[in-house]
Amino acid sequence: MNTTTLTKTPRWPARALWSLGALMSLGIVAYAARYLLHPPRTSAEALGNPLGVPWLVVHVAGAAIALLLGSLQFLPGLRKIGGHRWIGRVYVLGCLVGGVAGLILAPGSFAGPIATAGFGSLALIWIAVTLLGWRAALDRRFVDHRRWMIRSWALTLAAVTLRLYLPAVQILDLPFLPWYRAISFLAWVPNLLVAELWLRNEARRMSDHQ
Ligand code: HEM
Repeated sequence: MNTTTLTKTPRWPARALWSLGALMSLGIVAYAARYLLHPPRTSAEALGNPLGVPWLVVHVAGAAIALLLGSLQFLPGLRKIGGHRWIGRVYVLGCLVGGVAGLILAPGSFAGPIATAGFGSLALIWIAVTLLGWRAALDRRFVDHRRWMIRSWALTLAAVTLRLYLPAVQILDLPFLPWYRAISFLAWVPNLLVAELWLRNEARRMSDHQ
């Protein structure tokens, strides 16, 4: 097994990206907690989503756990003290619960079929990529595991990017509904591309050093 990428100290761009992702994740968890503290009782209170009661709370609970724990998993110190495995299991559970509930919510989006396709495909890919990462860990294919989990975290961060784009739409005074539909894709496709480019770049650097 090639463990080099698992043990070496992260370079500064990786640290900067990680810190930004971790900080913004905390902000979104704090924002999302309002749904857990005051669960919507009607679909009107759940973004007008007819499937919002009870699925929005289930979605937010699972997804918030994933968002809270995802960034911790990249800390090498956590692996040394043995927390990585248990936190990883809870992260996977959070992704599965958040993803399945997200998949159920998607057809009810007030923004119609394009948003259903955007959020629905995100949910499916999020679940698939996370399960592939988990499977790789069970098989002790740790290099593959790390690569799948980097993709999974990039998708978890869709919750962050979505909530960066939405205020931008308001500030720029753009028409909300078409942009909301576009954001159901923009929130995650670029994240996945960045993760993919990052992984390719890293693989190239590794082969240059061999
Ligand atoms: C990455 C996969 C995710 C998918 C597929 C997904 C899907 C969805 C869908 C379909 C809705 C309803 C939108 C509508 O009715 O128009 C929604 C709302 C919401 N989701 Fe997610 N979501 C994901 C990640 C997350 C994460 C990681 C969080 C973090 C806590 C989160 C928090 C929320 C919140 C708070 C809402 C209510 C909308 C708002 O107040 O902004 N989601 N999500």
